[in-house]
Amino acid sequence: MSFKAHTESGEESVPPDGRVSTPVHSTRGTDSLKNDKGLSQGRGHTMLTVREAIRERRAVRKFKPDPVPDEYILEMLEAARLAPSGHNRQPWRFLVVTDPEEKRFIEDSCRHQHFIGEAPVVFVCAADLSAFSKLSERLRYEEFIEYGVFDTFSGDLTDHAYWEKGFLSGPEPDPRAFAGAALANTYIAIEHLVLTATALGLGTCWVQARPATEALQKRFGWPEHIMCAAVIPCGYPAFLPSPRPRLALEELLLRPLPMVASHPTILYS
Ligand SMILES: Cc1cc2nc3c(=O)[nH]c(=O)nc-3n(C[C@H](O)[C@H](O)[C@H](O)COP(=O)(O)O)c2cc1C
Repeated sequence: MSFKAHTESGEESVPPDGRVSTPVHSTRGTDSLKNDKGLSQGRGHTMLTVREAIRERRAVRKFKPDPVPDEYILEMLEAARLAPSGHNRQPWRFLVVTDPEEKRFIEDSCRHQHFIGEAPVVFVCAADLSAFSKLSERLRYEEFIEYGVFDTFSGDLTDHAYWEKGFLSGPEPDPRAFAGAALANTYIAIEHLVLTATALGLGTCWVQARPATEALQKRFGWPEHIMCAAVIPCGYPAFLPSPRPRLALEELLLRPLPMVASHPTILYS
């Protein structure tokens, strides 16, 4: 069986193992871009599948000094850009930092975690609370209609009055009320970015001992409605930790699932 994947050049066949050769180009030699699995990360590199990336991602806290190719940075940002969000509000914003002095500032404000400054690139990931403004809601609502999505809704969401009363009219709410929702959506985009980094042979580490939003607003001239969500240092791993333990599937289930016993899927013992 073969699957189809969309690339810049149109549809191409994907082998059953799911490895997709993307049209990402690197200016560096492919030999220096081999990841720990020996997969080539250069021109037309082979990316890990989603399953492989999920299983192989680690919190990486030691980086090689080799720069991350621009194409990879763009591919990671593109993966974040395509994340889903409530009402398609897309509140995520990114500051891409490679300047040593700026990285030091971020490192210092992340409780002096030194590996942040050692990473060739640092993504400061933020949430834009203005994505929840009445104007923004109106644009998204019109977009749902324009793209025919409204016709696929069900229940209360099919009622225009529900949208009008709930989101579109009335006084402008305090944007801070949406901090939780904005962060939840932004975390999804960040994990897209993180898994794409893994698939490209890069290492990342979520950092939530993050700089105070006020400090970032001051340093980088951010407006008040931009709040920091997480910091993601990124680079080629100099040390890949072994898998950290995870809870057993049974411990996550709020009700036993008979199929678990007959289909064991234990990843980490
Ligand atoms: C939301 C979040 C915040 C984190 N913050 C930090 C941090 O500030 N510093 C750090 O060294 N690791 C941080 N981590 C990494 C975790 O310690 C790590 O993901 C966890 O121990 C599991 O290990 P693994 O990612 O290698 O599977 C964070 C992870 C997440 C998801």
